[in-house]
Amino acid sequence: MTAAEPRVIVALDFPDMMSAFGLAARLDPSACAVKVGKELFTVAEAGLVRELVRRGFRVFLDLKFHDIPNTVAQACIAATHLGVWMVDVHAAGGGAMMKAAREAVAAAAKDESKPRPLLVAVTVLTSLTAEDLAATGVTGTPEAQVLRLARLAQANGLDGAVCSAQEAAALRAACGPQFKLVTPGIRPAGSAAHDQARVMTPHAAIAAGADYLVIGRAITAAADPLRALREINAALGASH
Ligand code: C5P
Repeated sequence: MTAAEPRVIVALDFPDMMSAFGLAARLDPSACAVKVGKELFTVAEAGLVRELVRRGFRVFLDLKFHDIPNTVAQACIAATHLGVWMVDVHAAGGGAMMKAAREAVAAAAKDESKPRPLLVAVTVLTSLTAEDLAATGVTGTPEAQVLRLARLAQANGLDGAVCSAQEAAALRAACGPQFKLVTPGIRPAGSAAHDQARVMTPHAAIAAGADYLVIGRAITAAADPLRALREINAALGASH
């Protein structure tokens, strides 16, 4: 990560393309990256991603691929063709799936002489409790499972993990300084938690070891989204 690279990834969680472009038109690509998730991608299709890339945004394509290795590899090749900056898979898909994904993005990027997208692994969804995990046959604490899956991701060449900021310090210690940590559940001090149970301020998340902060409603639902982003960047010491 370069000093100038934005740490905030604005989650474009909108139900239609017009709303997403409405906010994107006001955002400066040098002040944030953007995240396109399942809802927006499903209504808007790939043209939206291409357009965001064309406008100079670093795009995190958050489709959390989880399938057999060949299918995930092909999906990752398609994502690389779109020119995205970051793409994610579920670590629970296993080592062979992650290795296939990693090889696929590298080969596709090389073929097109494009930079390779960062490939990050979703470990344990933050919505899952220990009881939920036990019901799927995973015994032990969610934290132990997060660490197990992050190590598996790292061993198979992935660049990092999506995790709760509350797990960032443990993952940083376990996986070292190069492993990218992408953390949702971020709320500036005093803002509404909404449905997120375990939230952290932007500054605390970075202090805990996060590299990138996924921020949705604290920016998208703010009366003045640009000001909200500016204040977060200022709190992080960025110049934007
Ligand atoms: O609005 P808010 O800041 O809570 O949005 C968080 C974003 O991060 C949403 O796009 C959500 O899907 C995503 N996310 C999350 N928790 C995870 C993984 C992704 O909140 N464990």
